[in-house]
Amino acid sequence: MEALLSSSATLRLRPPLSGSCSSKPSLPRSTFIPPATKTSRNSPFSRKNSLSKTNPCFRVCASSSSRSATETAVGSTTVPSEMKAWVYNEYGGVDVLKFSSNVTVPEVNDDQVLVKVVAAALNPVDFKRRLGKFQATDSALPTVPGYDVAGVVVKVGSQVKSLKVGDEVYGDISEKALDGPKQSGSLAEYTAVEEKLLALKPKSLDFAQAASLPLAIETAYEGLERAGFSKGKSILVLNGAGGVGSLVIQLAKQVFGASKVAATASTSKLELLKSLGADLAIDYTKENFEDLPDKYDVVFDAIGQGEKAVKVVVEGGSVVVLTGAVAEPGFRFVVTSTGSTLTKLNPYLEDGKLKAVLDPNGPFPFDRVKEAFAYLETGRATGKVVVYPVSEDYILEKMAK
Ligand SMILES: NC(=O)c1ccc[n+]([C@@H]2O[C@H](COP(=O)([O-])OP(=O)(O)OC[C@H]3O[C@@H](n4cnc5c(N)ncnc54)[C@H](OP(=O)(O)O)[C@@H]3O)[C@@H](O)[C@H]2O)c1
Repeated sequence: MEALLSSSATLRLRPPLSGSCSSKPSLPRSTFIPPATKTSRNSPFSRKNSLSKTNPCFRVCASSSSRSATETAVGSTTVPSEMKAWVYNEYGGVDVLKFSSNVTVPEVNDDQVLVKVVAAALNPVDFKRRLGKFQATDSALPTVPGYDVAGVVVKVGSQVKSLKVGDEVYGDISEKALDGPKQSGSLAEYTAVEEKLLALKPKSLDFAQAASLPLAIETAYEGLERAGFSKGKSILVLNGAGGVGSLVIQLAKQVFGASKVAATASTSKLELLKSLGADLAIDYTKENFEDLPDKYDVVFDAIGQGEKAVKVVVEGGSVVVLTGAVAEPGFRFVVTSTGSTLTKLNPYLEDGKLKAVLDPNGPFPFDRVKEAFAYLETGRATGKVVVYPVSEDYILEKMAK
């Protein structure tokens, strides 16, 4: 478990950038597109933050062409001492998020690698944390938010065994989502991550697709395992169109061998549920699932309907609850990040049995993170809200080779 960070560090911020230079990037190839519709030793804030020049345009100007004397060469990659990142220094709404060009690049512990972030994804926990709902167990402010990352390893700690500079990786960077999550998250050009939380990125996925997966698929997988889900069992997924539910449907069907998958969503998303593998798509705007005759071996509640969920589970069955009230025999858990789950699922991702589901309003470029959050916070996102590109220079470097 990651230790709680304690700090009274302050962060001096440059004014937020306007972001006028970015346009929406094209959607990655082979993405599943739904139908329209307290400072630690490693804190990025522990050093002075007033040195760097204000950069008015992230996407054009963030290339490695203007390197400072403090940068360190690592293999063929150069790591600067400061980076661009989204950061907040008080809890609150989207407007507490500020763009800074001079956050200190995190140092790596012995068991960590430094990842150059190419893509990141947002999760509800990001905004719930920013709103201060988990203050009792949160790490200290200021915070660079972001759990999900896909990027390239640019530096390795002395105890790192299987990853090397240049590896393309993905993962959820905070082992415990609520218990001392990282102060220096993935909505930044660089993030330091324990090797055990990462997996090699499947070659068939691009960075945006890979970034969409870790926290959601690990939650889906862990929930199914904790529920004792197995071949031949039936399942009802409440909120089948969201980030987690869209993966629960696929995992239940493609990996666990479900006999029947039912899921709820609003009218325009029913086709999506079926295309993901649902045998029955229930329109929650027209029907109450708890009034239908069917009962299920497992009910996976990804919306906060735990009290109704227990009405449709068979005797001896399981009800997994991710949020909200829990009634007997339901149970709630908080995901533990582990790269081993991703490694286990990589073959299914490689051969297309499992697909990344990206919200069609994205990906949002790095300078539109506030917009991406505002959208996620409507509660209407389909699949995952992805931030891409975060760092373009890696992509450009690779294209040039
Ligand atoms: N405990 C954990 O470890 C853990 C891990 C991950 C997530 N979570 C929590 O689990 C919840 C789901 O996360 P997520 O990332 O999947 O959320 P999400 O992607 O933001 O969910 C958005 C989806 O919710 C659907 N929705 C809204 N009201 C609904 C209803 N009454 N019935 C069915 N679907 C409905 C929306 O579809 P429509 O537009 O059709 O309404 C939308 O597609 C969040 O509260 C999150 O914090 C917990």
